[in-house]
Amino acid sequence: TTRVYNLTISETTGWPDGYNRTLTVINGQFPGPLIEVNAGDRLIVNVINNGVNATTMHFHGLFQNGSNYMDGVTGITQCPIPAGSSFQYNFTISDSQYGTYWYHSHYGTQYSDGVYGPLVIHSADEDEMIGDMYDYDQVVLIQDWYHGVSFGYLPEYLASNNENTEPTPDNGLINGANFFNCSLKPDDTCYQAESKRELFNFERDKTYRLRVINVGSFAEIDFSVDSHPFTLVEADGTTVKPSTFHKVRIAVAQRYSVLMTTNVTASDSQNDTYWMRAELNKFCFKESNPVLDVGVKAAIKYTNTTDSVARLTMVSKSSRVSTTTNSWDDRDANVRCLDLDNNSIEPFEKLEVPNATHFFRLDSSFFIGAYQLDLAYINGTSWVSADTPTLYSAWEQLSPAGLGANSSDSNATSLLNTVGPLELGVYAGNKNQYVINVPDYAVVDILLNNLDDGSHPFHLHGYKFWVMDSGRGNYKYTNYGNWTSDNPMLRDTVTVQSYGWAILRFVADNPGLWAFHCHITWHLEAGLMMQFQTMSSQIGTLNPPSEWQQLCAA
Ligand code: C2O
Repeated sequence: TTRVYNLTISETTGWPDGYNRTLTVINGQFPGPLIEVNAGDRLIVNVINNGVNATTMHFHGLFQNGSNYMDGVTGITQCPIPAGSSFQYNFTISDSQYGTYWYHSHYGTQYSDGVYGPLVIHSADEDEMIGDMYDYDQVVLIQDWYHGVSFGYLPEYLASNNENTEPTPDNGLINGANFFNCSLKPDDTCYQAESKRELFNFERDKTYRLRVINVGSFAEIDFSVDSHPFTLVEADGTTVKPSTFHKVRIAVAQRYSVLMTTNVTASDSQNDTYWMRAELNKFCFKESNPVLDVGVKAAIKYTNTTDSVARLTMVSKSSRVSTTTNSWDDRDANVRCLDLDNNSIEPFEKLEVPNATHFFRLDSSFFIGAYQLDLAYINGTSWVSADTPTLYSAWEQLSPAGLGANSSDSNATSLLNTVGPLELGVYAGNKNQYVINVPDYAVVDILLNNLDDGSHPFHLHGYKFWVMDSGRGNYKYTNYGNWTSDNPMLRDTVTVQSYGWAILRFVADNPGLWAFHCHITWHLEAGLMMQFQTMSSQIGTLNPPSEWQQLCAA
């Protein structure tokens, strides 16, 4: 089946929490519309850019097997779509991929201003494991929120001697809404009457699958529903062994599905209404923000009807509701940003983890660099978007159509550097394009050392990786091979804690150039990104549409 979505980007003013600001939105909606497909479908997304800036669209977590040129990364897999033009994304969803994903602009920090939406892949394979466990399905988007346009924060954030000055969020949102006390910003335009929380009408004695996606820019979020323990069944598109939690901590770009049953009678609930909470983990903020203490909440109200459907729909934000339910008290606000570890989460089906053939060490850190900018580095390199996307350079050189066309391009030539087994990370490209080249099928281990005092949610495009091990301090190489689990978690975004490390393993079988980066938008802008060029022997056989080439000719 082919499914077609048209996404029209435009600028508008809006007031998600009552506070008026400029937004960049899709189809006039904030957040963007749900894309819903089945495994194996062809997905066509027409992006019509009526905005004032260029754009791209990235489908977060999708494998893009054989279609790397549809991965939507500015400077890596494509030239951006200029304002006033359009581009068609057209690719096949892998048969083996399902669960909860999202899509977002991969042009600068643009998604922070509203260019994102949820993407859900249904499949019989997933249904077999957990389909019987729930009645209704509901997307829940959680995020930190800023009252200014994202690029407005960059000059200060990237200025010299400003380490650890990520902008502090002004609020948080659940499905694009939350309360804000307008009297705190009396000089600005803020509509108190429009400052509403999301209301979910849920039917009593039913089980709801909440697909929770952190679409934010920076903050890790503790998600919970008062009085309702829930069962975790999915993380980043991997079905996991069901286990019970009160709260789950979700880093930027991660997704978790939890099942909650509307069978509670709590004395502190007014009219069968309960708070859903998205508590921003303030541990990592440079300054406290009292506004956030009123909490990021939505209401779940038991009713005779439901807003949710067996297959998904977004509910609209609604009337002002209030209740008095209490948060689970098992949260420690001073706990540093951490994922659920391999002992509390594992794939539903035990997966065969192949042995690694290659090992790369990546050291990520922040420095005051050239031009006194506060930049982020991976192995001494800090990413800056290339005018000619690295995939374009590689493809042009390797494809029969473009053979030799750009052979004097030193960037393209160095992309062909090969790496032997068990070498440490090598340096290819230039200081802004750090590319590790893996020419043929391989099983790659990454030791990611975080030499910074903040935690980082790292995301690998085009793959999922096993989180083989993680910890704090220096990695002890003598422990290599002594894995803590024989069924490690498989996901696409992992938090590497401050002064910590993680070992990530992936099967490098997907031809193309794949971004590997911290998903905090501020850190992306500071250059915390590199690339894996995998199955390069087959990059020349990729077959991008001429429209893709024309974007770079423009
Ligand atoms: Cu959500 Cu580089 O991606």
